[in-house]
Amino acid sequence: MPHDALLTLARDVAVEAGELAARRRAEGVEIADHKSSPVDVVTLADRETEHLIRELLADARPNDGFLGEEGGEAGGSSGLTWVVDPIDGTVNYLYGIPHWAVSIAVVEGDPDPLTWRALAGCVTNPVTGEIYTASDAGGAFSGNQQLRVAEPASLAQSLIGTGFSYDAIVRGEQGEFVARLLPLVRDIRRFGTASLDLCAVATGRLNGYFERGLKPWDHAAAALVAREAGAVVTGLGGAPASAEFLLAAPAELASALERELANRVA
Ligand code: IPD
Ligand code: CA
Repeated sequence: MPHDALLTLARDVAVEAGELAARRRAEGVEIADHKSSPVDVVTLADRETEHLIRELLADARPNDGFLGEEGGEAGGSSGLTWVVDPIDGTVNYLYGIPHWAVSIAVVEGDPDPLTWRALAGCVTNPVTGEIYTASDAGGAFSGNQQLRVAEPASLAQSLIGTGFSYDAIVRGEQGEFVARLLPLVRDIRRFGTASLDLCAVATGRLNGYFERGLKPWDHAAAALVAREAGAVVTGLGGAPASAEFLLAAPAELASALERELANRVA
């Protein structure tokens, strides 16, 4: 399998980090700070988990760069960067909703979704024990089981995931768009963890997923999982997925969704 060693490292570190975060969750969660808005929180566990991931990766691969949600950023000399969300779904984590994830990817080139090439990634939900892995041209897996997206479905029969920004004005616009989309699809889900939403497209738990405003660490690993499972992962109008927009679905549904989304994404 291509990128075998990188994938094994991503998975081993994600599992160890998930065990730490789950232990901290069981002990009780404390908000450490607010970030982009009063509802965008960071817990002590987010920071501690990122710190652990960074140390484990640096021990194993000292020449690689690092980009983490909780502020960790360092260049490297190898041309590879680890893109890390120590706890994706922090609000679920805070409320004890068992749907959050550790996400670790390694990318080649600048750590910018517009240009990077994701080589390997792992997303794990430490509460359920689900471990999703993928490597470039190596397929996507849940444990040992290879993943394929759901059978093609029409837009009207599709269950679509999405997420909302921490910015109140953007949330309002997103809500208006979802209200317009709802009558056109089977239903909408907002699970609260972007990386797991993308893995849900890979497993067929969702037919498609879109979100505006994702950060690189939200999708670095999981977009590779979705793509390797057969989904198209794209931005709007042929642009690569980025902070502006990300859409993931099997090809036909992706085109149908894109038609609805074009010019309507506020
Ligand atoms: C958030 C979650 C959420 C998505 C937001 C992300 P965080 O990440 O993935 O599902 O809708 O856009 O910021 O803050 O929980 O790591
Ligand atoms: Ca996140």
